[in-house]
Amino acid sequence: MQKPKILVTGGAGYIGSHTALVLLEAGYEVVVLDSLINASRESLRRVQEIVGRELVFIEGDVRDRACLDRLFGDHDIYAVIHFAGLKAVGESVEQPLAYYDTNVGGSLTLCRAMHAAGVFRLVFSSSATVYGPDAPVPYRESMPRGRTSNPYGTSKSIVEQTLEDLVHADGRWSVSLLRYFNPIGAHPSGRLGEDPQGVPNNLLPFIAQVAVGRRQALTVFGNDYATEDGTCVRDYLHVMDLAEGHVGALNRLGQAGLHIYNLGAGKGLSVLQMVEAFERISLRPIPYHFAPRRDGDLAAFWADSQKAEQELGWRAKRGLDDMIADTWRWQRQNPHGYRSEINVKSQGTSKC
Ligand code: NAD
Ligand code: WQD
Repeated sequence: MQKPKILVTGGAGYIGSHTALVLLEAGYEVVVLDSLINASRESLRRVQEIVGRELVFIEGDVRDRACLDRLFGDHDIYAVIHFAGLKAVGESVEQPLAYYDTNVGGSLTLCRAMHAAGVFRLVFSSSATVYGPDAPVPYRESMPRGRTSNPYGTSKSIVEQTLEDLVHADGRWSVSLLRYFNPIGAHPSGRLGEDPQGVPNNLLPFIAQVAVGRRQALTVFGNDYATEDGTCVRDYLHVMDLAEGHVGALNRLGQAGLHIYNLGAGKGLSVLQMVEAFERISLRPIPYHFAPRRDGDLAAFWADSQKAEQELGWRAKRGLDDMIADTWRWQRQNPHGYRSEINVKSQGTSKC
């Protein structure tokens, strides 16, 4: 029996492209909507090449209601996985309007278009950042959302609250809020991975660019935290595990209501532990120096992911060595990301 069609907004991006691949492998039909503001269509060409199946790609903006109406008219969509958004914390402080417009406004427009099309199943990309600085670790879904410290985090919190209200107001909706911890890694083929534009904000892409010689040294933000080695502790999980979590969440959408899950490995690792692991696996030195703390960073947090295990049958299966080996394979094989193949013509693409 043919599996249903899933709309993946932001599907050309880092997590979206890995999820599109996992969906295709699981037999789903996939329609990707992406404005390409932070992605390359090359990622989707490679997804199709790896899986040996085609998806539909529509270049368009999730804030464009007419585009969404056309899309829902042309495709019988079973559920939407909504990745599309802006995600750089520092940039969100400088450009709050852009972040609220895309992340909040885009989500509202999407929900209105879904409602008009009679599609009431939604998986939303949220973040561990919604727990805020005062939550005790490990974070559990039963804890309330906390205060946020930047427009990016606030935008995720607002969308969560909006979706919660929507589910309460209209019993037809089934919404999963997936709170990601720190996704890293890449597809094991080395063909898909994270391709940040400019200077990477996140730790692993920065370390990988140092290892491959694109940057001289890592700046470690803070070595005076109350952690074992003084550097911040995070819960890193493999992007392929994260992608698989979305398939689990889709299955849960058969049941109306609000479903909230942490997707994390449940284990904290420090910045220096990540540096050491990268050196061990890549056999490259990662020079680093300490600098003052980065604004807004928390000392340590990790997930309690038992709820996802019990209700979705999901847990992070891949360990630290796999995460780093896959990151390194991707970076080594694609030192400049997708850029060298950015002009490759792709098939099955239309503009909205
Ligand atoms: P990404 O930037 O690689 O992917 C986002 C995609 O959305 C990009 O392909 C971009 O081109 C597209 N996009 C942006 N604005 C759009 C718009 N208006 N219309 C259509 N497409 C648009 O980021 P990612 O790391 O893959 O993150 C995916 C989602 O997960 C985001 O919502 C992000 O906030 C969330 N998230 C990411 C992390 C992380 O550490 N990467 C952690 C928690 C949550
Ligand atoms: C991890 C650790 C840094 C870079 C962010 C967002 C969060 C989510 C995921 C997504 C921290 C340290 C980093 C560097 C460093 N967002 N670091 N030198 O901050 O946990 O989470 O990304 O959409 O909302 O806040 O992840 O990878 O930026 O940092 O020392 O050059 O590495 O201080 O302790 P973070 P990160």
